[in-house]
Amino acid sequence: MSAPQDPKAEILKLREGLGGPQDLFYSAANQVPLPIIERAEGVFLYGEDGTQYLDVSSGPVVSNIGHGNAYVAEAMAHQARTMDFAYSRTSRHRPNMALTARIAALAGPGYERVGLASGGSEAMEAAIKFLRQYAVAKGQGSRRIVISCNPSYHGGTIGTLSITGDDALKPFLDGFSIPSIKIPAALTYRTPDGMTPEQNAERSAAALEAAIRDAGPHNILCFVVEPVGGLSTGCNVPPDIFFNRVRQICDRHGIFLVYDEVLCGTGRTGQFLAAHHYPDAKPDIVVLAKGLGAGYTPLGAMLAPARLVDELAELTGFNFSHTYNANPVTCAAGLAVLDIYEREDLVGRAGRVGAYLRGRLDALQDRQPIIGDIRGRGMLMALEFVADATTKASLPAASNAVERIRALGLENGLMIYSRRTAGGKNGDWIMVSPPLTITEAECDELVSRLEATLNAFKTEVKANLGLDL
Ligand SMILES: Cc1ncc(COP(=O)(O)O)c(C=O)c1O
Repeated sequence: MSAPQDPKAEILKLREGLGGPQDLFYSAANQVPLPIIERAEGVFLYGEDGTQYLDVSSGPVVSNIGHGNAYVAEAMAHQARTMDFAYSRTSRHRPNMALTARIAALAGPGYERVGLASGGSEAMEAAIKFLRQYAVAKGQGSRRIVISCNPSYHGGTIGTLSITGDDALKPFLDGFSIPSIKIPAALTYRTPDGMTPEQNAERSAAALEAAIRDAGPHNILCFVVEPVGGLSTGCNVPPDIFFNRVRQICDRHGIFLVYDEVLCGTGRTGQFLAAHHYPDAKPDIVVLAKGLGAGYTPLGAMLAPARLVDELAELTGFNFSHTYNANPVTCAAGLAVLDIYEREDLVGRAGRVGAYLRGRLDALQDRQPIIGDIRGRGMLMALEFVADATTKASLPAASNAVERIRALGLENGLMIYSRRTAGGKNGDWIMVSPPLTITEAECDELVSRLEATLNAFKTEVKANLGLDL
């Protein structure tokens, strides 16, 4: 398939295959028909026509234990048969108690309390609402402002979009959001003024402190940051010094520190929490989702220290919940997923097999200068594509790189998650974050199909734009 010559007509034609009651999201991004997936097993998804796709990104970094796990499916079915629902405000049930205890044990000291949610955005909102309610209960009602990074992504609800760092959201959010200040993210690849990543991290930390001073510490609720970035930065990993600085600054000004580990938590980076990589910069709150339910169930969690939760309980309590929080079937699924993590040592595998895959990707980069940067930690990586590896110049917008590589990936047996973020201002990348169960042989297969995909893309760019990549 080559790039559309008349994109508008092409989109209209392709959309003939879309539609129906579920298709709310007509957009230019739907340039190729999305394959209809019928079944999934291990690291593979299968289309209705039998085509096999290797799940390069675990969906949007969700399917950490792989697909089609019969043990998890059976645990869910058993729970549904035994006791389908009991409301968390009027009762307790064993799956809820066991799951929260298990998460707290894996998270370790400082995270003795676990609030369950039905996904990442909801868990992020719970974290912010919890801190806000704590501040109000302590007579610090002026603490309203959330500081976060630009770029960043924290969710799709109005509250979490407000703290997401994406300039394209400005018109949508103008006058329609919770108060938020953005500081420049500690990016490592394209740093301003030729700074080293460490210098850029210092700059970012200094911007945090300046923002706190400017707005007044008594007006700031918390600083929210992804310890390893997701799609918005292409897995940016700020240097360690950034987290130490940030912790010191938050302590100095009495500001809460929140790690959004919705995407990078639950074992992806080779530790159960990404926060475990930074013992001197432990956040006050950690938010998990995605890999916790691993695609089998919508599940998120807010982890908080007993000291804060118990103090608030004495004052006003935390007064917000959702109907489906901590429902038994979800909790049974979450427990079974954690059993698989343990049985298959998936956190250890993220480090070990992640390092193997990284080695294979590094070798691919040597053959493919279109790969400008490989970033990430453990089994959470992104490849950034460039027109020139020396100048780090991005690919021309006309190449529609991210979308075309996704589409060509389908033709080469790959399901790739990518999306142009911030209008491509910060570059173009794809997520390479397969299930943590992936074998070394499957990593080899992934890299070989990826190379075929990149070669097809380069041929297309040469034909359409006359550019040699
Ligand atoms: C870092 C981060 N935070 C929050 C969210 C929102 O999670 P959800 O889509 O489950 O609401 C996401 C989702 O991609 C994410 O990557």
